[in-house]
Amino acid sequence: MAMTRTVLVTGAASQLAQCLKLSGAPSAWRAVYLSRGELDIGDSARTKAVLDEIAPDCIVNTAAWTAVDRAESEPAQTRRSNATGAANLARWCGGRKARLIHVSTDFVFDGKSARPYAPGDATAPLGEYGASKLAGEEEVAKLPPAQGVILRASWLYSEFGQNFVKTMLGLLAERGEVAVVGDQLGCPTSAHSLAGLIWRMLSRQAGAGLYHWNDGGETSWFGFAREIQRQGLAAGLLRKEIPVRPLATTDYPTAARRPAYSVMDRGRALREFDVPEGDWREALSGVIRAIAKQEAAR
Ligand SMILES: NC(=O)c1ccc[n+]([C@@H]2O[C@H](COP(=O)([O-])OP(=O)(O)OC[C@H]3O[C@@H](n4cnc5c(N)ncnc54)[C@H](OP(=O)(O)O)[C@@H]3O)[C@@H](O)[C@H]2O)c1
Repeated sequence: MAMTRTVLVTGAASQLAQCLKLSGAPSAWRAVYLSRGELDIGDSARTKAVLDEIAPDCIVNTAAWTAVDRAESEPAQTRRSNATGAANLARWCGGRKARLIHVSTDFVFDGKSARPYAPGDATAPLGEYGASKLAGEEEVAKLPPAQGVILRASWLYSEFGQNFVKTMLGLLAERGEVAVVGDQLGCPTSAHSLAGLIWRMLSRQAGAGLYHWNDGGETSWFGFAREIQRQGLAAGLLRKEIPVRPLATTDYPTAARRPAYSVMDRGRALREFDVPEGDWREALSGVIRAIAKQEAAR
């Protein structure tokens, strides 16, 4: 009989952890999900004690400080979760031959590229959030590549937690008109597709080093909002169509600067893990359906 292995998922309340839980760990794996209250990865002593007790074979780190603008005024808290937290997990894995699948972000790039970012491209974060996530990556990269996997994703959303899709559905239902940034290009990523890739890495016991993942294609936040509106109307989540217009980044000042272009080249992940190619619009329709189901159950 195959031995059961243990995977520990940090940040159990994150969008990604909830999607991992919903689809369920691959067979032969027992999954333990710990929220910040149960495991604060920024607390070095406590993290070691909890990990010693659970003794996971693999850790999937979804825990992160993800408030990009607040990170600018709270850099110490941001670093505590995103850099110290990653270092605490990596240190424990290094000593135990355990694997760490660490989730990171497109915000490690400055957005000046003219083509999708490849995993080896030079990083140059524009703000505290991206810098803290890069510092976390550097800690994970100290592990041998087969032990420390870094998985960068972009523009994550789901039916869980707070994200652009849910915020937009709210604004599109309440307001007479909505203006959305049209000159930042990237690719939305359903947390479900990212969860699928992570479980595949686990079930195949494969993957080494750095991967990029997003859902395929590219758009702007404005294009994303228009598609959310289109699908929201079709699913009955929105009653009336209101005007949506594009805004320039310069007309929408935020505390943190964001990359103007952050499409990522996911070729390596597609090749090695044989995941369906799909397209971001198709992935969005799955989440819109899930939100419609949640609304119907209210
Ligand atoms: N959201 C995006 O657009 C995006 C894009 C690219 C990459 N990512 C990355 O993808 C991963 C998952 O993102 P997500 O959007 O699913 O996350 P999320 O919904 O924002 O949740 C993050 C979770 O991490 C927890 N957390 C923060 N600091 C912690 C600590 N020190 N110890 C334990 N838990 C802690 C938070 O707990 P509390 O709720 O208690 O604060 C929260 O539940 C993150 O690594 C993120 O950087 C996200």
